Amino acid sequence: MSAAVQPTAAPATTGRARRRIGVGVIGFGWLGQAHSRSMLRIPTLFGERGFDPELVICADTAPERIDDAVHSFGFARGTAEWRQVVEDPGVDLVVIAAPNMLHVELVEAAAAAGKHVFCEKPVGGTPEQTVRAEKAARRAGIITGVGYNYRWAPLVRHAAELVSSGALGEITNYRGRFFSMYGSDPLGVLSWRFLVDQAGHGVTTDLMSHSVDLAHLLLGPITRVVGTTETFIRERPLPNPSRPPTHYGRGRPGDPTGTVTNEDYAGMLCEFACGARGTFESSRSIVGPESQMAFDVYGTRGALGWNLEKLNELQVYLAEDGLDTGYRTVFGGDRFPYHGHFVPGSANGIGFEDLVVIEDYEFCRSVAEGRRHRPGFAEAVEWVSVQAALLESVKTGRWEHVVSLRED
Ligand SMILES: NC(=O)c1ccc[n+]([C@@H]2O[C@H](COP(=O)([O-])OP(=O)(O)OC[C@H]3O[C@@H](n4cnc5c(N)ncnc54)[C@H](O)[C@@H]3O)[C@@H](O)[C@H]2O)c1
Repeated sequence: MSAAVQPTAAPATTGRARRRIGVGVIGFGWLGQAHSRSMLRIPTLFGERGFDPELVICADTAPERIDDAVHSFGFARGTAEWRQVVEDPGVDLVVIAAPNMLHVELVEAAAAAGKHVFCEKPVGGTPEQTVRAEKAARRAGIITGVGYNYRWAPLVRHAAELVSSGALGEITNYRGRFFSMYGSDPLGVLSWRFLVDQAGHGVTTDLMSHSVDLAHLLLGPITRVVGTTETFIRERPLPNPSRPPTHYGRGRPGDPTGTVTNEDYAGMLCEFACGARGTFESSRSIVGPESQMAFDVYGTRGALGWNLEKLNELQVYLAEDGLDTGYRTVFGGDRFPYHGHFVPGSANGIGFEDLVVIEDYEFCRSVAEGRRHRPGFAEAVEWVSVQAALLESVKTGRWEHVVSLRED
């Protein structure tokens, strides 16, 4: 396996040896750029790190993005051929941020080359692909990570502590939702996200994966589900072929259109192994909530709620407050995990990309220390096991049991 991480010379001022981690990135759109910026920011934010990331090579099919990777981000090399990334001897870790249906082939090639892999969620576009990717990575013995970035929000980690400490009593029910307006405008272009052959499934893959992953973190496994899906906007303008379509790109009235081939909406009722009941909803075509990746947890002695739109606020209700009951707002601050790496004090906020920095820091740390990382591909398979049951329920109209899809 060529995945050994080499020590670099200690900077003269610190006297501390740090391991060099050569980073290759495949797909240099929104998230490929976010991860690359993270790798550049890690040294300025985590002085205690035992490694130094180095941007080695970036692949994208769009020439202007390769140019940007080299000339603005400082990658040593850029290429239109992703195989050069997995084969580069200077690369220890491959970040996969290409459209979902490409993930599994890239993971298999990187695993065969012995590179550690951080793959954007959900790892493939279908449950079958996620299972294949997990199996290839496990057999190759590489370390894997998945971009379930909301796990790393300081107040989400605090929420997890409140739940596990019993502060809310016994958890009775859970509400998870990811409502995004990115597809609410019928003029939003037919980017890869709306096509089953490029994205795989629609919002179950793109959005509900995040919601259920957080529920797994907070409450544990789901045992049974029943659900429904719908596509509300069935035709969208075709993207301009001369530039890569973005998530938020818009066409014009009268543009030629194409057919949306995966779902805009998914709803699911479920039972958790811990006994709690839950509801999940995801939509990309809803009007109103703009990026409402949110959850509520209800227990016998209290409740809490978090919403990405207010990432630096946690709503907490404790019945023990007696006459003074009511939700109170807990502001983010440096007393919570990671927050102080970005900004000191309380109520000085952090942002979306800071969560990507935290996940990249933790993944590089796992690689440098040679240990399993969570969330990794095993956790990705836990979500697609739920997704497969949900999709089956949509077909049968009945409750379906969640069966682990992991293959030995
Ligand atoms: N964790 C999160 O919050 C989050 C948010 C957005 C996207 N994502 C995930 O990140 C991944 C990428 O999404 P995005 O929004 O960055 O997409 P994007 O469309 O902005 O970027 C994808 C890039 O991949 C490139 N590409 C396409 N085919 C390629 C190939 N064969 N080789 C190399 N590059 C190729 C495209 O040119 C484009 O630059 C997806 O899996 C998505 O689910 C995660």
